[in-house]
Amino acid sequence: MNMQNENSFEQFLSQKDEEAWSAALATLLRSIHEVDRNATQIWFAFYPLSLWQALAHAEDRERLAQQLLLQGDYDLKHQIDRSHAFLYGHRFWPQVKKAIEQHADSFGQSSSISLADQILTVARRVANDLKKDESLLNGITAVAFMTLQQTGLAAFTAAPGTIHIDRKHANKSPEKILRHRAKDDSQGLLGFLRTVNKQFTITHDENDDKAKYKLNDGQDLAWGAAEDRSRDWVAIDPRRSEGPIPVECRSASCGTCWVGVLGGAEKLADVAAREGKKIKEFGYIDTAEPKPLIRLACQAQAGGAISVVIPPWNGQFGKYLRSLKNTEERAPGAQPAGGRIEQTDAVN
Ligand code: FES
Repeated sequence: MNMQNENSFEQFLSQKDEEAWSAALATLLRSIHEVDRNATQIWFAFYPLSLWQALAHAEDRERLAQQLLLQGDYDLKHQIDRSHAFLYGHRFWPQVKKAIEQHADSFGQSSSISLADQILTVARRVANDLKKDESLLNGITAVAFMTLQQTGLAAFTAAPGTIHIDRKHANKSPEKILRHRAKDDSQGLLGFLRTVNKQFTITHDENDDKAKYKLNDGQDLAWGAAEDRSRDWVAIDPRRSEGPIPVECRSASCGTCWVGVLGGAEKLADVAAREGKKIKEFGYIDTAEPKPLIRLACQAQAGGAISVVIPPWNGQFGKYLRSLKNTEERAPGAQPAGGRIEQTDAVN
């Protein structure tokens, strides 16, 4: 991005790195309504700032994308209005987008206010206009700030600002969504017996009543998805060659099958050593949490109904970003040599 053409709000955002955002999110989290608390964290995992920065500063962006095995649509510029459709706050997107454009226009007055406080201020303004609880606006407003940081003000403003869910789903209350989210299936009168083969419903798009499949107790999330031939999944997303969840290796080697867990994370088996190691190497999440919000569908075994979100892309970038960070710490401002990454596992 050309600094001379940036407005002062863009300049303010361009100084925010992953750490500044983590701190802002940690502050905001308790002010985000329960319906969007997981969704907001998942969205930020789906669109990592450090990956976007690495691509933006690469000498050869296409080559780096190939090296990092990026597949699908990882660029927010193509999905400014759409990437956050799984947040409850998405239904307020037109108003949030407009409020942020106004905030950018009058930014001089807010330049000394922290990132988290700016997000809260804009969210409060929209909440007051819409007569909604501001906790419903905080997550989507944080998402909008990050979207603007990654796309630039010109592209952000040029997006039409439309909503990508139908009226029926847009009218659902947060309470109703929370009640239905990952609600466990009835196992019938004999369900209490250990010998009954229990089946659970996996929802992979809460805004589509047909976006569900069944799996048996103890199967991993990808297993059940492969049985779902209800649609031409490849036509929807070329990575979906075996049902709604994109998969390749089924052995935690490729990173294709990552999902965000909107509801029911506690009903998935704990992350095993290999899943934990590989999901960090891929760059999706770095945590010791036994039941995190980001999982590899081919590894996560379900013991109940789960609601997941499927990101529109996948890759292997964790090791590369770590080496980039180490290079920066040793010699600030230095570029990593040719963007080379170490590959330890074959994709297939
Ligand atoms: S399908 Fe390759 S990691 Fe899950």
